[in-house]
Amino acid sequence: MKRTLGTCYYPEHWPQEIWEKDARAMADLGLTWVRIGEFAWSRLEPVEGDLHFDWLDQAIEILGKAGLQVVLGTPTATPPRWVVDKYPDMLAYDAQGRPRGFGSRRHYCFSHQGYRDECARIVTQIAQRYGQNPYVAAWQTDNEYGCHETTVSYSPAAKAAFQNWLRVQYPGQGNDGDIEALNTAWGNVFWSMEYNSFDQIELPNLTVTEPNPAHVLDFRRFASDQVVSFNRLQVDIIRRHSDAPIAHNYMGGVTDFDHFKVGDDLEISSWDSYPLGFLEDRVPANDAHKTLFYRQGDPDYQAFHHDLYRAVGRGRWWVMEQQPGPVNWAPYNPAPLSGMVRLWTWEAFAHGAEAVCYFRWRQAPMAQEQMHAGLLRPDSHPAPAHAEATQVATELKEAGTVSMTTAPVAMVFDYEADWSWQIQPQGKGLRYLDIVFDMYRAFRRLGVDVDIVPPTIDDLSGYSAVVVPAMMHVPDALNAVLQATPAQILYGPRTAARDAHFSIPTGLPPALPDMDMVITHVETFRPTVEIALEGGGNIRGYREHVETKATPVLVAQDGGAVVCQFGNKTYLGAVLDGAGLARVATALCAKGGIQTWDLPHGVRTRTTGQERFWFNHLPHDVKVYGRSLPPAGVLREPLA
Ligand code: GAL
Repeated sequence: MKRTLGTCYYPEHWPQEIWEKDARAMADLGLTWVRIGEFAWSRLEPVEGDLHFDWLDQAIEILGKAGLQVVLGTPTATPPRWVVDKYPDMLAYDAQGRPRGFGSRRHYCFSHQGYRDECARIVTQIAQRYGQNPYVAAWQTDNEYGCHETTVSYSPAAKAAFQNWLRVQYPGQGNDGDIEALNTAWGNVFWSMEYNSFDQIELPNLTVTEPNPAHVLDFRRFASDQVVSFNRLQVDIIRRHSDAPIAHNYMGGVTDFDHFKVGDDLEISSWDSYPLGFLEDRVPANDAHKTLFYRQGDPDYQAFHHDLYRAVGRGRWWVMEQQPGPVNWAPYNPAPLSGMVRLWTWEAFAHGAEAVCYFRWRQAPMAQEQMHAGLLRPDSHPAPAHAEATQVATELKEAGTVSMTTAPVAMVFDYEADWSWQIQPQGKGLRYLDIVFDMYRAFRRLGVDVDIVPPTIDDLSGYSAVVVPAMMHVPDALNAVLQATPAQILYGPRTAARDAHFSIPTGLPPALPDMDMVITHVETFRPTVEIALEGGGNIRGYREHVETKATPVLVAQDGGAVVCQFGNKTYLGAVLDGAGLARVATALCAKGGIQTWDLPHGVRTRTTGQERFWFNHLPHDVKVYGRSLPPAGVLREPLA
């Protein structure tokens, strides 16, 4: 695999006279890719049917002639004003039942048929025109599905589509579904919620108190499927006209739709990595951690997403947007420590990225993102990231091609589990993504590489350990695959605690084979409560009470079982702090024969098939196994 660099460019934001100079400068820097077009609908079609492709023809020609390969985005994340005027009911609706307004982006409802038709039309026009263009070497559908909380919409269009979706999920005679099957699955006898027909089913918002969790879970599955089919509509059109690979750029920390299902329709998965924005805005960590890493970003958050999106892309993935300097959208927006843009780029390559593209080429002087850095300042002088990108481009020439290998640990990530925890956290602040991320971090702190895998994985061979954290419903197929592996398996907390329709399984959780234990009840706690473990570490926030004849391998100081083991299966019945998780991860690695490292806080290592990388995320020098790493240092060594 070759590793390449790119940037995001908006020719429509700049006078045509400078496009050629920009293109030459990108090529001189050593960039391969330039992504364009993804928000340009109002310039392509200012008025319905009045198409203006001449400027885009020109831009592609200029960029291509300079030696760049174009990633062409479909412009459907920003329907222009006339589209909204044509379909006033195409807007997404928030949970309060209010339409979301025009004036930024992503203001559409995935379920609106008129908008889908409009998208199909503009995507067809673009695909027909550029499908055979020699410079268009890849495509991007839309932009960041789900960003700004836009997966779920409570619009009239969503309601009608949800009812039809339910008819298919609960099939009956003819075209109508089996309403009794739905009533039973959801447990609607409770609070007299039984329905006589699918037309009566509302969206689960604006209820007096909490809606039925089974109702909400089906609604979330529906909302996710709408994203999948919206994306597929575009993919099918592009494929009719082009052989170039198709990508989507996912966002960090967005879990509202099943990315694996969208990814199955694409050749490449990509994501938008903003380490400093994420640290302030979505990384679960305390103030001391955020202060230490304020210019470097969290040492694991990007890596987690790299590993997740490598799985979503079935091996092929990019960073489509890489933070180059301060962003504009987080609560605080510092500049990266010198060297971090280079580190983030190499870190992505160490996790298997084919390409890293910097967002954006030049900082815009106008509108929402005028405070967002680029590789160039608004006056076209190089911004600090320019030199770091140049350095990586030079280093890449020497670095050669690499391959990726299977990591020792597989971690199952399940979007449905994330929705289930959101629907019923049972304690304020308990989030699936955070629990999974903290477990991931525990292995990465030990220097262990992790492959994230989808819940539909059918083969776990090659892994020494498999982690299934907090997956509230485990389907039979996955249970069978887990039964077949001789690897060490770590489950919990709350794994297999519900059936497919959000009820407690018969015989109490966990509904897992070969576990001589049941969970009799669970407790949740305010963040200030810590329940100490024997030997170090604490329970934080969530605890299960386990009944078992087995002797637990880890107990709380009050005597309660926390970790139980049955052959190669380990069950963790609590959310633990870092110290507690370190013990659980270390023990699992020892049982699985997995090599661990004693890394300084903030230092990470990762291997490809040919190299071992060392990354220093700290603002000061460190020594690691005899090597010296400066602040933001990256070391790349051939594997022995
Ligand atoms: C991304 C988005 C870009 C730009 C960027 C700013 O989420 O895809 O269009 O807004 O953030 O950081």
